[in-house]
Amino acid sequence: MAKGATFYCLFSCLFVLFSSTVSAIKDADDEKQQVYIVYLGALPSRENYTPMSTDHIGILQEVTGESSVEKRLVRSYKRSFNGFAARLTESERERLAGMERVVSVFPSPKMKLQTTSSWNFIGLKEGSKTKRNPSIESDTIIGVIDSGIWPESDSFSNQGFGPSPKKWKGTCAGGKNFTCNNKIIGARDYTAKSKGKESARDYTGHGTHTASTAAGNAVAGTNFYGLGNGTARGGVPAARIAVYKVCDAEGCGGEAILSAFDDAIADGVDVITISIVLNDIPPFQQDPIAIGAFHALAKGILTVNSAGNDGPKISTVTSSAPWVFSVAASITNRAFMANVVLENGKILVGRSVNTYDLNGTKYPLVYGKSAALSTCNETKARLCEAECLDGKVVKGKIVLCESSEGPIEAQKLGAVGSIVKNPEPDHAFVRSFPVSFLSDDDYKSLVSYIESTKDPKATVLKSVEAFNQTAPLVVSFSSRGPSTIVSDILKPDITAPGVEILAAYSPDSSPTETEFDTRRVKYSVMSGTSMACPHIAGVAAYVKTFNPQWSPSMIQSAIMTTASPMNASGPGFGMTEFAYGAGHVDPIAAINPGLVYESTKADHVTFLCGLNYTSEKLRIISGDNSICTKKNSKALPRNLNYPTMSAKVSGTGSFKVTFQRTVTNVGKPNSIYKAKVVSSPGSKLSIKVNPSVLSMKSAYEKQSFTVTVSGNSLGTEQPVSANLIWSNGSNIVRSPIVVYAMS
Ligand SMILES: *[C@@H]1O[C@H](CO)[C@@H](O)[C@H](O)[C@H]1NC(C)=O
Ligand SMILES: *[C@@H]1O[C@H](CO)[C@@H](O)[C@H](O)[C@H]1NC(C)=O
Ligand SMILES: *[C@@H]1O[C@H](CO)[C@@H](O)[C@H](O)[C@H]1NC(C)=O
Ligand SMILES: *[C@@H]1O[C@H](CO)[C@@H](O)[C@H](O)[C@H]1NC(C)=O
Ligand SMILES: *[C@@H]1O[C@H](CO)[C@@H](O)[C@H](O)[C@H]1NC(C)=O
Ligand SMILES: *[C@@H]1O[C@H](CO)[C@@H](O)[C@H](O)[C@H]1NC(C)=O
Ligand SMILES: *[C@@H]1O[C@H](CO)[C@@H](O)[C@H](O)[C@H]1NC(C)=O
Ligand SMILES: *[C@@H]1O[C@H](CO)[C@@H](O)[C@H](O)[C@H]1NC(C)=O
Repeated sequence: MAKGATFYCLFSCLFVLFSSTVSAIKDADDEKQQVYIVYLGALPSRENYTPMSTDHIGILQEVTGESSVEKRLVRSYKRSFNGFAARLTESERERLAGMERVVSVFPSPKMKLQTTSSWNFIGLKEGSKTKRNPSIESDTIIGVIDSGIWPESDSFSNQGFGPSPKKWKGTCAGGKNFTCNNKIIGARDYTAKSKGKESARDYTGHGTHTASTAAGNAVAGTNFYGLGNGTARGGVPAARIAVYKVCDAEGCGGEAILSAFDDAIADGVDVITISIVLNDIPPFQQDPIAIGAFHALAKGILTVNSAGNDGPKISTVTSSAPWVFSVAASITNRAFMANVVLENGKILVGRSVNTYDLNGTKYPLVYGKSAALSTCNETKARLCEAECLDGKVVKGKIVLCESSEGPIEAQKLGAVGSIVKNPEPDHAFVRSFPVSFLSDDDYKSLVSYIESTKDPKATVLKSVEAFNQTAPLVVSFSSRGPSTIVSDILKPDITAPGVEILAAYSPDSSPTETEFDTRRVKYSVMSGTSMACPHIAGVAAYVKTFNPQWSPSMIQSAIMTTASPMNASGPGFGMTEFAYGAGHVDPIAAINPGLVYESTKADHVTFLCGLNYTSEKLRIISGDNSICTKKNSKALPRNLNYPTMSAKVSGTGSFKVTFQRTVTNVGKPNSIYKAKVVSSPGSKLSIKVNPSVLSMKSAYEKQSFTVTVSGNSLGTEQPVSANLIWSNGSNIVRSPIVVYAMS
């Protein structure tokens, strides 16, 4: 019943946005129904279990007074937690919320979705050059919550795989014409059954791309029309994949995502990767990813999530729960360039994934502004907006547009190519005819060439690869902190490659997902934090193969404290820890961090109570009967045992904040770690660590310390940061410390 279903693919799948319209059907009373998620708390223990405990139909019958409520019940959650999603009117919602067994009721929100060289780039080299634990890796299962998968891709072939790991409790319910194998060991489909597409098959490309980035087989000679030729592979090529399809062309429903978590946890996956973000930034108790991930954490499963594609504006990060590993996107050392050559021989450097060859032929140039229909104003014509350009003028020409969507309209009208102004020239776009994206300055000089030349002409070259040793840098579109939900937790957590990633794709879709793009490929180039997220999921699985007993927070800590430092650059918050978190992932270092910061489910309960959650709100997230006591309500959120330290303070006057932390020795016994604080140049912070030496006698010993940060008149323009480094002489355990004020 999703009405007005929309499927956006902006910037050539830089972001794949799905927006689901919550079904609104009318009941007899003419009262509007909406999908609500209803929590009944934890599943009862085996002794206390009665069929009544998960009788969701019975509860619905009671509350609606109807005997046939099957159509009202949207989902039933009874594998990892107890609850359901149902179509309810406002008065039914109220009645339900008042029932004793009901922990909480909240509306199902709208969600959006958002490699050949990237793994080499972060140090996980091909083949035997990387140390691996093959038998454990083969028992590792990555749960991919996305738009499904293309099971016939070479990246998911069966070859060399034995039967499913013994711990696997899932199933292959991929629907019609969908077969699992020993690589894709499970599949479930929660999407509205669109006709002819009733399966876990991926009809967009997004889910195939993310799954192969996390755990695809090594496939030699993959490329996108010759670009990026090499071996495509995931972080853990020997691992298995379990597919949970929650998105289709009609959207991703919050209640479907919660079902996927319910099943993935019970099925026995090791790591969950979910490259989906919410349309807005809801509090944790209204965020199905935060809720699902909390249950996953309680069962020892790490959830990795994309930070969002709404940067470089600050406070755009949507993934801010500390029990979710939030990933920012960085550029790698490889870029795809498509230059523009003018008739006078001048070359303008463009960034683009252009697979089309104009064979050097120069075509007349026309500025969108000069091709406007009389019915269209100049502002819209510059952008080449729909129904704005005169087809007779643009036909056979290369059209200048000031919006990355403009070329689509120009192509419709018969242009041979397009040149686009790209104010953030740090990433390329895929288009379905020859396009080059120029920096503001180059675009300006092109416009002046057109305006001063009688018969301006140019050509767009086919893309080539360029390499830049100075990478990595967080890409402009990656969402930034500080989190608006929790001011004293640094988000995003980590950075991984997310720009121009080549990975497996759905041959049912075109690389641009536009109708008139007739290309069909097995491997395609995509950019987004969606692509960075499965890199970290792959690394987390890799780390787990060496440390199978580690809890999710230990794995997260190991990856964060061993990340390569990145330098704050430029003014403001945009290129600081609020862009890259702990830094750029280093998988090899992460397997042996020395010390970790561990936080349990109980620690997260205390954290939520410290955020002034009531017991009622807390239970929405915990799904059990946890309570906020007087004592844990006094806990400061910044004292959660997190691998980074962040505090919001007043911008004027002096301040002093403390952080309490506990580290666990996961290295050798009899280790001595000494603290060192490295401040950025000119930092006005005074930082004391007490004690500053930790002597760890045994393995898994825990020791606590306090970090006191004081300073004066911070101002609101720029955060101030330093690094706390614990070192035993060779291992470096680094935590960024960030203090900021905002107006
Ligand atoms: C199953 O799906 C594959 C891939 O789309 C297609 O090639 C094949 O024809 C389908 N088979 C049937 C029986 O529909
Ligand atoms: C890709 O690389 C392989 C092996 O290096 C080579 O055989 C193949 O011709 C290359 N393909 C393209 C399109 O460059
Ligand atoms: C460029 O040359 C190739 C090979 O000769 C040809 O297939 C293609 O159509 C040409 N492109 C244009 C735009 O003329
Ligand atoms: C052009 O149209 C847009 C949208 O309708 C409007 O906001 C803008 O002011 C107009 N510009 C001019 C120069 O008329
Ligand atoms: C290389 O990357 C750095 C940092 O991202 C950037 O400032 C520089 O312009 C790039 N150089 C080239 C030649 O692209
Ligand atoms: C950060 O800056 C320092 C000093 O300017 C420099 O020595 C260091 O190499 C830089 N680090 C990175 C990762 O760029
Ligand atoms: C929680 O409430 C207390 C008392 O009203 C207040 O001092 C504190 O700042 C609040 N904490 C948060 C994280 O909002
Ligand atoms: C530091 O700790 C790590 C992890 O236990 C260990 O591998 C390394 O040998 C230690 N270094 C020194 C100098 O003791």
